[in-house]
Amino acid sequence: MKILAIESSCDETATAIVEDGREVLASVINSQVAEHQKYGGVVPEIASRRHAENIVEITEKVLADANMSLSEVDAIAVTYAPGLIGALLVGVNFAKGLSLASGKPLIPVHHIRGHIAANYITHPDLKPPFLCLVVSGGHSHIIEVKDYTEFKTIGKTRDDAAGEAFDKAARSMGFCYPGGIYIDKAAQLGNPKAYKLPIPHVDGSPYDFSFSGLKTAVINLVHNTTQKGETIDNNDLAASFQHTVCKILTDKLMLAAEHSGYKNIVVAGGVSANSGLRASLQAACKSHGYRLYLPALSLCGDNAAMIGAQAYYEYLCGNVADLSLNGCASVPI
Ligand code: KG4
Ligand code: ZN
Repeated sequence: MKILAIESSCDETATAIVEDGREVLASVINSQVAEHQKYGGVVPEIASRRHAENIVEITEKVLADANMSLSEVDAIAVTYAPGLIGALLVGVNFAKGLSLASGKPLIPVHHIRGHIAANYITHPDLKPPFLCLVVSGGHSHIIEVKDYTEFKTIGKTRDDAAGEAFDKAARSMGFCYPGGIYIDKAAQLGNPKAYKLPIPHVDGSPYDFSFSGLKTAVINLVHNTTQKGETIDNNDLAASFQHTVCKILTDKLMLAAEHSGYKNIVVAGGVSANSGLRASLQAACKSHGYRLYLPALSLCGDNAAMIGAQAYYEYLCGNVADLSLNGCASVPI
């Protein structure tokens, strides 16, 4: 089954054609990052307008790249939630138009389910059940993936998402948006023990995260140091911050795995590209005897291939929408 997938939940307009949930026939990503960088973050209205301008062209391109016409596609999939509502609505309405014009079924896909499904493309042998750490700009969740369309969240952030903390800490260090990748690069040149940063304690669930105190500690450290006329070593601060975030994520994920009994551990979302996190999880999983699945670097950030992968499994279990499908800014997985 060949699915044409559309993703427009944030600042990437993306299309892909994916066969049977596993094989990417073509994938196109049009990133708006350079434009949003001027404002230090994503400007929702600009994002929606750019999606509206780009979506037809990148759909034509993905069909051309796959050497297919719309009539050869078996279904249309689209990210309907969560995300920026104006941005989502562009993709949802466009997908509805394609479905109406072609008579093909319309498959709604949850963005986070899509991030998890990026791993089905990278690892053809991967099947649920498994335990998944989802770390993106808007999410930090530990999720039991019981089946392709059955999920149970057992831990989540109480405040900032991991990617959000990376981006805000990066901003205080003078890096441009989105700063996660710049922290990753700087951290490779720094000493992770140079600055002592707090590991937040979260009352209640042992698998919940909190990153806002850590982020604020970085911002205050930069502010107080420069106020005194002293300089911060950005490489050392990036390494110390990244080391602390990776320790928090790794420790909680290992605890959750130990308690829940899962031996297959999967990571998803933009922050799964972080080299420190990949190394830390690799070491921890090796010492616990767990098998670790990481998405290919090209599939960590937002893309439509992951939406096409998840759409296949949504379709198999009957999750098909009619033309009243709406976008939604926030929906639990
Ligand atoms: O999944 P994603 O592309 O979009 C959302 O659904 O949010 O994640 C974007 C987030 C941003 O916060 C970005 O800074 C972060 O992923 N990110 C990274 C790295 N690459 C992207 N964070 C740390 N290290 C990286 N190498
Ligand atoms: Zn995402």
